Amino acid sequence: MYIEELQKILKGIMAELGYEIDPKIVLSNRPDLCDVQCDDSFKIAKTYHKNPIEVGEEIVAKLNEIENYSDFFESVDFVKPGFVNIKLSGKFINKYVSLMMKDDHFNLKRPSNPETFYIDYGGANVAKPLHVGHLRPAIIGESIARILRFAGHKTLTDAHLGDYGLQIGEIIYAIKRDFKDVPLEEIDFDMAYLDKVYPEMSALCKVDKDVLDECEEITKELQNGREDYQYLWKKIYDLSIVEIENIYGYLDVDFDYWYGESECYPIIPEMKAHYESLGVVTKSEGAKVIEVKEETDNKEMPPFILEKSNGASLYSTTDLACIYERMKRHNPDHILYVVDARQGLHFEQVFRAARKSELIGDTSLEHIGFGTINGKDGKPFKTRSGETLKLVDLIKDVKETFLNLKESNKEMSEEDIDTIVNAIIKFADLQNNLEKNYIFDIEKFASVVGKTGPYILYTYLRIKKIIGDYDKNITLSDEIYNDFDRNLRLKFLELQSSVDFAVKERRPHYIADYVYNLCVLANNFYQNNHMASLEDGTNKNDWLLVLDLTNKLIEELLKLLVIEIPSVM
Ligand code: ARG
Repeated sequence: MYIEELQKILKGIMAELGYEIDPKIVLSNRPDLCDVQCDDSFKIAKTYHKNPIEVGEEIVAKLNEIENYSDFFESVDFVKPGFVNIKLSGKFINKYVSLMMKDDHFNLKRPSNPETFYIDYGGANVAKPLHVGHLRPAIIGESIARILRFAGHKTLTDAHLGDYGLQIGEIIYAIKRDFKDVPLEEIDFDMAYLDKVYPEMSALCKVDKDVLDECEEITKELQNGREDYQYLWKKIYDLSIVEIENIYGYLDVDFDYWYGESECYPIIPEMKAHYESLGVVTKSEGAKVIEVKEETDNKEMPPFILEKSNGASLYSTTDLACIYERMKRHNPDHILYVVDARQGLHFEQVFRAARKSELIGDTSLEHIGFGTINGKDGKPFKTRSGETLKLVDLIKDVKETFLNLKESNKEMSEEDIDTIVNAIIKFADLQNNLEKNYIFDIEKFASVVGKTGPYILYTYLRIKKIIGDYDKNITLSDEIYNDFDRNLRLKFLELQSSVDFAVKERRPHYIADYVYNLCVLANNFYQNNHMASLEDGTNKNDWLLVLDLTNKLIEELLKLLVIEIPSVM
């Protein structure tokens, strides 16, 4: 890696000067002045009781004397009060660009110890329509999983469907009411029935306590394995999963395990016995709880509820049981939950309860809590009539808006249109730091100008046209022809650092930012460097190679954002 190579040179120099330190080279925060910089003069000055100006000047003087200077540097300058600013030589930049071109993984580092990540995302609920709130866990989760895999780690992904909650009890209640005299095996209903019954029942349960109690009882009996309820549950599940698969399929989101909460029920007794044996389970108002308060807490921290007073399990029970199961079965290094930030307290309680057991060991339990998608009023997105927007309707809206905005009359296949719709939605979402709420503004997201999915796709297709077919067997020369060219090549070198950040912080926006900035530089490059007017020769070859690498990067990085490329747009 180029940073490491530079650090090695610097380390040698520091040693010559009598300083024992592992120097750090970082990307410049003044790209107008330099490409990379070293700020270690301050640290050295402190350790060796010197003045940082003196130290910085010494380092720069030494660097300017090294052998093969131009293999590495164009210039090395000292800037007060202690910065060492470095501009890289064309030869050095091209050495690494060339390595990226020749390697099908862009010469990125592979982890020496790949880690295993168990990633829980998606979280759709059976028998309830997916709504706008299910978009982010699906695409952020999928993107994080792809980024981790791309970086060389192992991932296990799990949809963790909500398939055993109160909504099922409510629907079984309605079925019992609507099919009163029908023998169990003859009861028949379709998805339209579920779509009608769920909102009706959920409204009824809000106003009628007796109905609610009965639905809760049904849910509990279902969870305890009552056979007729199990039979109906399976029918409900089979209908609903088709819709869930369809919508995840449309979004290109897939899981290794399509498990639901129901999956962990068989392990609940063992898990409970385990925590009971540790002596951490206590009784509180008839319920079984685990105290998770810590002395340093400066906020309210209610106990974790393991079992309700009626003996039923809850959302918290299933999450704890799943951790227990995942540890036993896979012993991952990390378990990630890509779930709405508003569930922060829930996960904090679950993680603290889980850690009472040594079974968790060094495994990190992480809640990747994302913000909400808001309407233009700044509040969580709703339909005009104030209901939660279904995910299918949101996709439909985006598609319509895109088709209305589309300026070109080019014939487009349905497949290409869907690909672009995906790009619009996903890029708009993933370019944000995921913690932040953002406002859903379809017109803005669908535009080909600005930081949008269509802008990236457009850039890619434009470059593809410019490069056309050419002999890719040529090699890159040592030349760099102008600043547009240089800036683009330098950007290639920054890939490693963007990937590193995305992996370390589990944040796809580092990749989105990188690919967007790459596209801005690529646009500057081809608008200012006319390929068509160039004679065949070294310059033309070099530029074809540069554009080819640009497009390979765009394509691969878009995959990490779960975005494909249409054939036209
Ligand atoms: N089904 C839940 C919901 O719609 C999300 C599940 C999140 N994952 C988890 N392990 N709790 O809110």
